[in-house]
This record gives sequence, structure tokens and C-alpha cells, in this order.
Amino acid sequence: MGILEGKKILITGVLNDQSLAFGAAKLAQEQGAEIVLTGVGRGLSITQRTARKLPITPEVLELDITNPDHLDAVKSHIASKWNKLDGILHSIGFAPSACLEGDIFNAQWSDVSVALEVSAYSLKALVEGMLPLLITAGTSSVVGLDFDATVAWPGYNWMGVSKAALESLSRYLARDVGKHKIRVNLISAGPVKTIAAKSVSGFNAFETLWGDRSPLGWSLTDSEPVAKAIVAFLSDWFPATTGEIVHVDGGYHAMGA
Ligand SMILES: NC(=O)c1ccc[n+]([C@@H]2O[C@H](COP(=O)([O-])OP(=O)(O)OC[C@H]3O[C@@H](n4cnc5c(N)ncnc54)[C@H](O)[C@@H]3O)[C@@H](O)[C@H]2O)c1
Repeated sequence: MGILEGKKILITGVLNDQSLAFGAAKLAQEQGAEIVLTGVGRGLSITQRTARKLPITPEVLELDITNPDHLDAVKSHIASKWNKLDGILHSIGFAPSACLEGDIFNAQWSDVSVALEVSAYSLKALVEGMLPLLITAGTSSVVGLDFDATVAWPGYNWMGVSKAALESLSRYLARDVGKHKIRVNLISAGPVKTIAAKSVSGFNAFETLWGDRSPLGWSLTDSEPVAKAIVAFLSDWFPATTGEIVHVDGGYHAMGA
């Protein structure tokens, strides 16, 4: 029996089969979960195609996280399908190119506000939108994906600032939904080659650096360690953990040089 047997889980952020959320969706199904995916805009049809690569083809709902009507529609659909949600994976990030190029002065508020809304505020919007379904489950788990925001990275710029906001937000959310037995945790993942990663100009710098410095080693093409941590947090095996950030990065964060 899998550790997610009987659980109903909403998984955002599957674009293609390299998406971190794809590995999590596959493992979640293997561990017994029923899942629904979401896709957005022009990527929606790619998500639908990618969904067919999973062991069981799940439903794909349209969700632009900045659109309250989409959030309402997803909530209503899941309410009539399952009437509860045991877990949510927030695997959403986007920043306009001005936020990811040059130095920190390169982007203006019109771009920065998009990065912050889609990559940080969206966690609050998602939890708020699905709150009644999470409460109905009795106990539930929300997991988000972070990239260590305690230091500055090459090229990450305003996405790094957005991740710092996400880290802080996860703690405030954990504070305010704990009374409903909803846990909110982040996985701080090492670099993995995905579509989102391609838009980070400094990403190539990680290629040798990460593998060399991480005591456990690190592969930029293997998202399974991240998927396993996500599934563990969606399971009942961290019942007293919330507001936490767990590094799944080969141990890179703990090394000084
Ligand atoms: N790849 C890495 O190295 C890495 C490392 C740490 C954390 N992360 C984080 O993991 C998460 C997933 O990214 P990924 O690397 O799998 O890349 P990805 O490109 O496969 O996934 C990003 C997802 O965000 C979704 N998205 C963008 N704008 C959206 C919107 N307005 N509404 C709804 N969804 C939207 C996209 O559709 C896509 O599915 C992101 O939060 C990213 O910052 C990635």
C-alpha cells in the first residue's frame, strides 16, 4: 500500500515531463493518490499531452493563478468531484525576462509585480481558493517549491526576491491555517533543468558548481529526489511539521565552500 493511498491531491505546475511537478505527480499516483492537474494559457494543451504520460491520465483544469474566476471554477469542480482536498502542490513560478537579466536595477515595478504575484502571492491565492476543501479533509498538506533565498545567485535577481517572499509567506500561512490542521511547507530544491530554469541566465553556473560542492552529489536532470520529498510531505508522515523549509539539494546549502 502506498503512502498516499486514498488521498485526493491537486497538482499545479506540470508543463512537460521535465517539470518538477511531473515527477511528483507520477510518484503520487504510484503511491496511491488520485490527482488533478492544472495548466495555463498556451501551455494548457502541453499539460494535457503530458498528462497522458502519467500511469493514469488525470483531469487537467485550467488555472491561471492570477485569475480569481479560474480559482473559483477549480474549487467548484473539485467540490463536486471529491468534496475535499488532502493536499496541494504549488509548483508555480514566473518572472518577466527583465527580472532575470542584468543586475537588480534592470527591472521596474511593472515587471517585478508580475514576478511577485505569480511566484509568491499565488501561494496565498491558491490556499485561500481551496480552503473549504482543505478544511473538509480534516488534515491536509500544502507543499511549495523554493530556491534558497537566503543568498544572492547569479541571474536569479527578482525571482530570488520572490522566493524570499514565498519563504516568509509560507510561515504566515502556516500560522493562520494551522487551526484547520493544514500544514504548509516548502521544499528548497537544488537546480534541475526545466523550462522555468532555462529562463534563468545564471543557471549554467550551477552545472559543475552544484555537483562539486554537494556532499551527496547532484544531478541537474534527476527530479526524483525532489518528487520523493514532495510526496513525503503530502503523506501523513510529517503530521507535526509546518512552516518548514527542507533542502533537497544534495547538501549544497550546508557547505561553506
Ligand atoms: N528547476 C529548478 O531548478 C527549480 C529549483 C528550485 C525551485 N524551483 C521551482 O519549482 C517550481 C516549478 O518550476 P519547474 O522548474 O518545474 O519549471 P516548469 O517551467 O516546468 O514549471 C513552472 C510552472 O509554472 C506554471 N505557471 C507559470 N505562470 C503561471 C500562472 N500565471 N498560473 C499558473 N501556473 C503558472 C507553468 O505553467 C509551469 O507549469 C517553480 O516554483 C520554480 O521556481 C525550480
